[in-house]
Amino acid sequence: MYPDRVVSGMRPTGAMHLGHYHGALKNWVKMQSELPCLFFVADWHALTTHYDDPSIIETSTWDMVVDWLAAGIDPAQATLFIQSRVPEHAELHLLLSMATPLGWLERVPTYKDQQEKLADRDLATYGFLGYPLLQAADVLIYRASLVPVGEDQIPHIEMMRELARRFNHLYGKEKGFEEKAQEAIKKLGSKRARMYTELRTEFQEQGKADALEQAKAMLDEAQNLSMIDRERLFGYLEGSRKLILVEPQVRLTEASRLPGLDGQKMSKSYGNSIALREDKDTVTKKIRTMPTDPARVRRTDPGEPEKCPVWRLHQVYSDDTTKEWVLKGCRSAGIGCLECKQPVVDAVLKEQEPMRERAQKYLDDPSLVRAIVADGCDKARKLAQETMRDVREAMGLGYTSV
Ligand code: TRP
Ligand code: SF4
Repeated sequence: MYPDRVVSGMRPTGAMHLGHYHGALKNWVKMQSELPCLFFVADWHALTTHYDDPSIIETSTWDMVVDWLAAGIDPAQATLFIQSRVPEHAELHLLLSMATPLGWLERVPTYKDQQEKLADRDLATYGFLGYPLLQAADVLIYRASLVPVGEDQIPHIEMMRELARRFNHLYGKEKGFEEKAQEAIKKLGSKRARMYTELRTEFQEQGKADALEQAKAMLDEAQNLSMIDRERLFGYLEGSRKLILVEPQVRLTEASRLPGLDGQKMSKSYGNSIALREDKDTVTKKIRTMPTDPARVRRTDPGEPEKCPVWRLHQVYSDDTTKEWVLKGCRSAGIGCLECKQPVVDAVLKEQEPMRERAQKYLDDPSLVRAIVADGCDKARKLAQETMRDVREAMGLGYTSV
């Protein structure tokens, strides 16, 4: 009933590195050409953990947008915006909070995990407890169908789905809904009306998911229905409520295959990362000074690639011939470590070249970035306002809409 739409956000807590690119960003770049996408800087989310040190948020926000553009996010295809510039997210967060059981928030695994992990911060705050609720508002406000995120975020998406279901259940009631739905069925014409009723029964009595899908597809094609009747019939399929908010699905982002310079997960806090747009000399130096198999003390000592973090980079960046050359050369001491690292240096620089190029335009003229974001915020806000009109009305606040 509502168009397919992708929503995802990232917190501006520091510069992006190649691990982010090989994990999330590459996936975003791919999705932008498949479906309408909204990507945003989750600056309020950054404040939930960094409320006592907000100084890095502003610079990180703009750097991050430049990183996205550098990575190939195309503002002509995707909508890029900043969370705090679409204040409707906060309004929905507040309204959702009214009926959100505390236990749902307390039980989200990231709540306790992060508190333990970031023990140097006091995260026993109201804002931090509400983190997943704000995230739910970010997504539900666009009636998004898909949310590309990493595995750690799955519980958050599950909670969003429950919130949407609960919201529709509580506020999707309409006086005389059943009668109105029956009226709308008649408007389908007798053949379709019969099919609709049969499929609905199959789904409700036997839980057949394909019957539900088939009925939805039929409604999508039915042309002589008004928006409101269509909405009723979608809601009536699954129960006796209007669907005001949509339950989104996860699109799992594969974990980055790119390890850090020391073989551990790439992370800025481990000091083992390469920034997305790091300058060439630094990249070259970082790779040339990477640790290797500790058994190779002298050039003449044979080594074992399986014990070397450089080999892990070859597995991401090199073709079979090069990999063969590494395996043989290392184990026979036929090649030296610097020699072995050179193809990795070349491949990383080559990968970054178009990124540096694309970024240059925006670094030379930052007003371009502001314009892209301003335009994205306008677009996002229009969509958010549409949903909020329905939400307010459903919650008895219709008089606040003009
Ligand atoms: N919590 C997400 C993360 O840490 C960031 C985020 C905030 C987000 N709002 C979102 C992701 C909405 C997807 C959709 O990665
Ligand atoms: Fe690592 Fe390559 Fe040196 Fe072998 S030759 S230890 S794989 S850097």
